Amino acid sequence: MTPLRGRLRPPRSLRARLTAGLLVLLGLACAAVGVVTVLALHGFLIGRVDQQLTASGGRFAASLEHEARPDSDNLPDTRGQAAGTFGARLLDGRVTQAAVVDDTSQRSVPLGPGDIHTLGAVRPDARGHSVKLSALGHYRVVAAPGDDGDVLITGLPLHPVEETVHRLEAVEAVVFGAALITAGCAAALWVRFSLRPLEQVARTATEVTRLPLATGEVAMPEPVPYADPDTEVGRVATALNRMLGHVGDALTRRHVSEKRLRAFAADASHELRTPVATIRAHTELALRHPGPVPDEVRHALGRVAAESHRMSALVDDLLLLARLDAGRPLDRQPVDLTRVVLDVVDDVHALSPGHRWELDLPEDPVSVPGDEHRLHQVVANLLANARLHTPSGTHVVVALTADTERAELTVTDDGPGIPRDLLPDIFRRFSRADTGRSRRTGSTGLGLAIVDAVTHAHGGTVTVESRPGRTRFRLLLPTGPCPAADDGAARPNFP
Ligand SMILES: Nc1ncnc2c1ncn2[C@@H]1O[C@H](COP(=O)(O)OP(=O)(O)OP(=O)(O)O)[C@@H](O)[C@H]1O
Ligand SMILES: [Mg+2]
Repeated sequence: MTPLRGRLRPPRSLRARLTAGLLVLLGLACAAVGVVTVLALHGFLIGRVDQQLTASGGRFAASLEHEARPDSDNLPDTRGQAAGTFGARLLDGRVTQAAVVDDTSQRSVPLGPGDIHTLGAVRPDARGHSVKLSALGHYRVVAAPGDDGDVLITGLPLHPVEETVHRLEAVEAVVFGAALITAGCAAALWVRFSLRPLEQVARTATEVTRLPLATGEVAMPEPVPYADPDTEVGRVATALNRMLGHVGDALTRRHVSEKRLRAFAADASHELRTPVATIRAHTELALRHPGPVPDEVRHALGRVAAESHRMSALVDDLLLLARLDAGRPLDRQPVDLTRVVLDVVDDVHALSPGHRWELDLPEDPVSVPGDEHRLHQVVANLLANARLHTPSGTHVVVALTADTERAELTVTDDGPGIPRDLLPDIFRRFSRADTGRSRRTGSTGLGLAIVDAVTHAHGGTVTVESRPGRTRFRLLLPTGPCPAADDGAARPNFP
């Protein structure tokens, strides 16, 4: 059960608050009108009773001046007195006579000590006073001094006044209750209608927050339908529409420039391939020249051959990234990942026998749908890093597991680890820890960017965790029917 305090919490939504506020105000207004009309009617009716009492001139009480005896003619004068009229005679604070008109006759009224005290306290000022008598209930009484030092009290019952006032209260309760219910429904509808544009604003703003705004082509949500700009809600809607327009324009411009940049990178890499290949071919031809070649020239040619080789690898990497950015589809053939891992480990083992390479493969071959050449490149890049960025003697474990949904490849080494400040940007292009050493080892900082781009193009993910003594890259690839390849445009394209 909800705790009481929780249930009494004020409503949170603006709509509920406005409706509740309107209802509270209306309720207060009804209560004020009710109280004022009841008080006014009560005052008016009491005034009328006072007038009646004054008009009767205390005749009934005066006729009580001498105690009536059953055998005497000196009976109290009840003529013209309304039923319920009360009369009493007080002498020295003692009630000598007290009677009430019952139809046309009169009967004496038993008075308790409290009543005597109440009547004794009424000032003989010929003005109305409200009292309560134990045998008769509420009365309006007027006291006036008699002829022989006594006090004569005449009273009229207040129950007709109370009845009329209670009836008015009941009518008001019904009318105000009905008015509150009707007004509550009307207010709820009106508030809902007035705030509809605001709900659309909130819906549109929420849609925008869900959009992948970082990269690629973004379809902005429909603008909020026209709302009166003279209202606050209308102004918010208009401002949001304007903002959507600006953001949409900016995103379109960014997308166009991204596309141009991608096309430029692809074209430039493509155009560079031929001259670089030509330089390599001619350098190798010159190196194979049978005649005598001076040592300096041979050394220079060797450097040109090595650098053009490096340049051609760099151009290939850039071209691959540009194509993946453009969302160019990859091959979707079943790839035996176990075979790929075995081949790559074989290669790195030959290149770096100083490292301790360990393989942990499942008994059954693991197959994933994809581009074999690119997946080979991914595994090769990860193992090349484990080879090049760790000292000889480092223990590297390559483990592969798979279930019905995905294959997991981890490459774990106990080398020095990736510098902490480099870790967040490790998959960005040209991120390297040591640029000086990079130049020496020929690394460019594109290896992990390619791993990331190719993995995502296969619908997979790659993550890294690293600390001194333990670095682990974890690659997840879907083994089932390949999901639609990640559109390269949806990923960060340029560093
Ligand atoms: N296993 C690792 N241990 C330590 N540092 C690593 C490891 N793997 C990557 N790094 C760090 O991450 C950087 C980026 O790696 P990445 O493969 O992207 O580029 P690279 O190896 O420098 O050059 P490229 O692979 O393009 O030839 C490396 O320069 C290195 O500093
Ligand atoms: Mg590398």
